[in-house]
Parts: sequence; C-alpha cells; structure tokens
Amino acid sequence: MLAAMCLQGGNGGSLPALPELDEEQFACWAELLERRLGIAVTPRRKVFLSSRLRTRMRELGMSDFQRYYELVTSAQQGSMEWSHLLDRLTIHETRFNRHPASFRLIEEHYLAPLLRQACDTVNVTAWSVGCASGEEAYTLAIVLERALAAHRGKVYYGVIGSDVSLESLALARDGCYPAQRLAGLDAATVARCFVSAATGYRVADRLRQRVAFAQLNVLSLEQAPFEKVDIVFCQNLLIYFAQPRRQQIVATLARFLKPGGLLVLGAGELVGWQPAGLESLKFEDTLAYRKIKD
Ligand SMILES: C[S@@+](CC[C@H](N)C(=O)[O-])C[C@H]1O[C@@H](n2cnc3c(N)ncnc32)[C@H](O)[C@@H]1O
Repeated sequence: MLAAMCLQGGNGGSLPALPELDEEQFACWAELLERRLGIAVTPRRKVFLSSRLRTRMRELGMSDFQRYYELVTSAQQGSMEWSHLLDRLTIHETRFNRHPASFRLIEEHYLAPLLRQACDTVNVTAWSVGCASGEEAYTLAIVLERALAAHRGKVYYGVIGSDVSLESLALARDGCYPAQRLAGLDAATVARCFVSAATGYRVADRLRQRVAFAQLNVLSLEQAPFEKVDIVFCQNLLIYFAQPRRQQIVATLARFLKPGGLLVLGAGELVGWQPAGLESLKFEDTLAYRKIKD
C-alpha cells in the first residue's frame, strides 16, 4: 500500500510546511499500519508516509503528528478518522474487465462445466475481495449473467464486493463510472449492461441488484457476513502484503470456497506456495486454484 503513496506523490504545494516525522513518531505510525492493515512500512517509505499524513492533517488544520496520531487512535472519533486516512494511504485504481483472461477462466472452467452438469437449478455466488469502486464486482455480475442466460432451468446468482475503504464502497454502490473505466468492455456489453448518466455510465439496475457491497478488512475475514461462495476473486490487493501475510490471507480466503469452487488471484501475486486443499488451474496467464476438499 505504501507503494501507492509513491505514485500519489505531492506534498501540498504552496501550503505552509509541517514539521518532519521524527523517528519515534514514524515507529508509532508504522506499527499502527502494520497492525491494522498488515502493511510493512520500511524506513525508505517514511517520506511518503509523512506526505500522506500531512495532506490529511492540513485538511483538518492540524500541524502536530503526535496529536493526529492520538486522534486516529482515540476511542471516540478514532475509527471515523482512520477511515478517512485509509483512503489516502491506499490506492483504488481499477477498471471493468481489468484482466480479461481471469474472467474467461471463470466462464470456461467453472460456469460452462456447471451448466453441462446442471439439471434444474443453478446457484452461483462470487466474491470480489478488495473491490475498490466496484468495477471488478460488476464485471463478475456481467460474466455470470451472460453465461447463466444459457441455462434453461432456474438460475440464482449474486456477487459480493468487499473493501476496507468506505469511500470506495460508496462509489461502488452508486455504480456510476466515467467512460474510460469501461474501455475493457465491448460495445454490445456496454449497451446491454449500462445506461447513460450525467457523468458517464451507470450499471443497469438489474445488475446492481445482484451485487452487495460490505466493508471488510482482509485481516479480519472472520467478520465476513456470509459463509461459502463459489468464486473468490482477489486481484491487486495481495501485492501490498509481505509473502507470509499473503499466504495467511489466501489460506483464509480458501476456507470460504465450496468444494469445486475457484480462487482467482492476480498473476504473480503468490509464488512458491500452494494453499492446502486446492489444486492449481493452468489457463493463459492467470493464477487460479480449484478447491478439492474442505
Ligand atoms: C488496487 S485496488 C484493486 C481493485 C480491484 N481488485 C482490481 O484489481 O482492479 C486495491 C484495493 O484493496 C483495498 N484494500 C487495501 N487494504 C485492504 C485490506 N486490509 N482489506 C480490504 N481491502 C483492502 C484498497 O482499499 C483498494 O480499494
């Protein structure tokens, strides 16, 4: 996540300079981020951390890192302020159909075989973990709708999108996007799944009704308000964590899968380790696993 700070850059231009983070304050902030978000903040990231903190402190008219730390960790206003700060510490870059092969994998390795076996009722739930402003979750809904339309019996499907950022989730629920976020979709899909809106395109109501969003930290997945799903899709989130923490998160995500379900990660996001009870799937440049047993 701190890599995000590097990309975001900037320190407030002509606004008055705030003091630098001293070593002791840096250690306190680094410990807080590691504990709450699982992010390891190395000393070389200190300048980015202080830049992001300063941006938020300026908005609040504060100039003292220690006082701001006390606010963020206070019992009364702390959780509200933490959620504002979080949005400045994390990146939310995303778009529809961001990694097309991963969505093709779901169609070819999960939905097509499911439809070949299904007699009457088909029921599929997918989960977009770290969904940011919702494009990935809605892409899953588009893929499910298209594939399941071929089934002659009853069809139930739904998508859960979760993220730690409340601001991103508000955008996701709104479901309105500028045209460039839809560039990965073909014209027929845009025409079928969106309506024109003042600032771009809005996801069609029938699809929005299929997607539910919830705030969830991947470090506290035991708080998830659901149990087993068919597809867990988690891309461009694990990259912010060190390998041992990635393995821990992936092992927990795998527990949410039904037997036969798919875990789809971002290519290269997990190396040299395979979660127990899963088998690797080979498909184009994807990184995916199938759950063999609980
Ligand atoms: C770069 S976006 C990825 C969006 C989407 N998955 C994609 O690949 O296009 C990373 C998202 O992970 C979220 N995130 C970061 N740390 C998190 C955590 N500990 N728990 C849940 N979400 C987190 C951020 O808020 C951000 O929206």
